Amino acid sequence: MKRTIVALPGDGIGRTVLDEAIRVLTAAGFEANYVEGDIGWEFWCKEGNPLPERTVKLLEEHKVGLFGAITSKPKDEANDELVSELQGKGLIYKSPIVALRQHFKMDICLRPCKTYKGNPLNFIRRGTNGNVEEPLVDVPIFRQNTEGLYGGVEWSNPPELVYEGLMSHPQFVKNFGAVPKAELSVSTRIFTKHATERILRAAFEHARKYGYKSVTVCEKPNVIRETSGMMYKMAQQIQKADYPEIDLWNTNIDAQMMWLTKNPETYGVIVAGNMFGDIISDGFAGLIGGLGFACSAQMGETGVAVFEPTHGSAPKYADYETSIVNPIAMIESACMMLDYIDEMDIAKKIRKAVAEVIEEGKVRTYDMMKLSGRPDVIEKGAASTHHMAEAIIAKL
Ligand code: NAI
Ligand code: MG
Repeated sequence: MKRTIVALPGDGIGRTVLDEAIRVLTAAGFEANYVEGDIGWEFWCKEGNPLPERTVKLLEEHKVGLFGAITSKPKDEANDELVSELQGKGLIYKSPIVALRQHFKMDICLRPCKTYKGNPLNFIRRGTNGNVEEPLVDVPIFRQNTEGLYGGVEWSNPPELVYEGLMSHPQFVKNFGAVPKAELSVSTRIFTKHATERILRAAFEHARKYGYKSVTVCEKPNVIRETSGMMYKMAQQIQKADYPEIDLWNTNIDAQMMWLTKNPETYGVIVAGNMFGDIISDGFAGLIGGLGFACSAQMGETGVAVFEPTHGSAPKYADYETSIVNPIAMIESACMMLDYIDEMDIAKKIRKAVAEVIEEGKVRTYDMMKLSGRPDVIEKGAASTHHMAEAIIAKL
């Protein structure tokens, strides 16, 4: 029986890259039905909801989503763009990505950062003899996706009850006790044992399944003792009990960001809380070519998983007659989907085709040519989005 995949194009270049990725999937022999789910700005403007209930239902039914990108705008702009019938009704724009994450409890985010040989955007450094070294980076980053500093529990001028709670902490009294309540802004960083264990186990499982020799917990346990400290302690217990063959390393986020340009090839799987995971994954993505290459998966306990490039809708390129953006991040995200649904052989085939195109170096999108994005990049020899996908399909 054919699988059904929920295709979520979203806004801007989201649709362009998703269409190309689906063409590549089909050419590689992946047989599926694609049902389109409405998501993004258009539906906010027309219906006052960027994630209509019918789209949630589709994902509930079919479980696997392939997602392009959406456009988000600040609150006031969002309100101005609503159709007139919906204006003044107190509707508040909320990112459909965050809403999806919360609704389907997709607490595990995986962002693999892997070098393609021959990518002109690869990180290089000077070696000991002054020679140029191009280390091969292969670092899957596991980011806790629902809690921590992005958990949304925050206040400016906190309510009395919260203030009293804070005042019960000696450190708060000492450092902030004299500050008027109205001048306080507080964002919490909440970690739960349940979610922390899940992200840690996902990282260790991935290391075992794909043969990485280490898992690094990248937090700051010496300073942020309760949350980072808990994560590292749990990692030690889990490693000792269930993954003795995998080394457990502990790095601080600040030092890790320095080391990522010194010895990125040293690291295997990295796991972190929400915000630090966000930072590390952008950092490592920069070493392997940036937004045109950075892919991601979001998975959770409900069994619903969504695969998407980390880039956004790039509105300034959305209306080009010939699309110039790099479809590889989206195609790589589709490969992650294939891994997830046990179609590893097809994923391998696609990744090999992508690797061949990149190594050959004849077909390159504007980002790979280090051009600034303008319609004339095509005249300058850059491949269009479509042309890149065609080159990959030709290799298949
Ligand atoms: P963006 O990721 O859309 O674009 C930033 C810049 O990166 C682009 O102008 C372009 O130079 C480059 N770029 C992006 N994708 C590329 C690709 N596939 N190939 C080559 N170059 C590429 O981020 P920006 O401009 O900050 O945000 C635009 C909109 O996207 C906003 O409304 C934002 O809220 C939204 N957004 C959505 C995300 C998502 O859907 N997951 C993630 C990030 C931003
Ligand atoms: Mg980010």
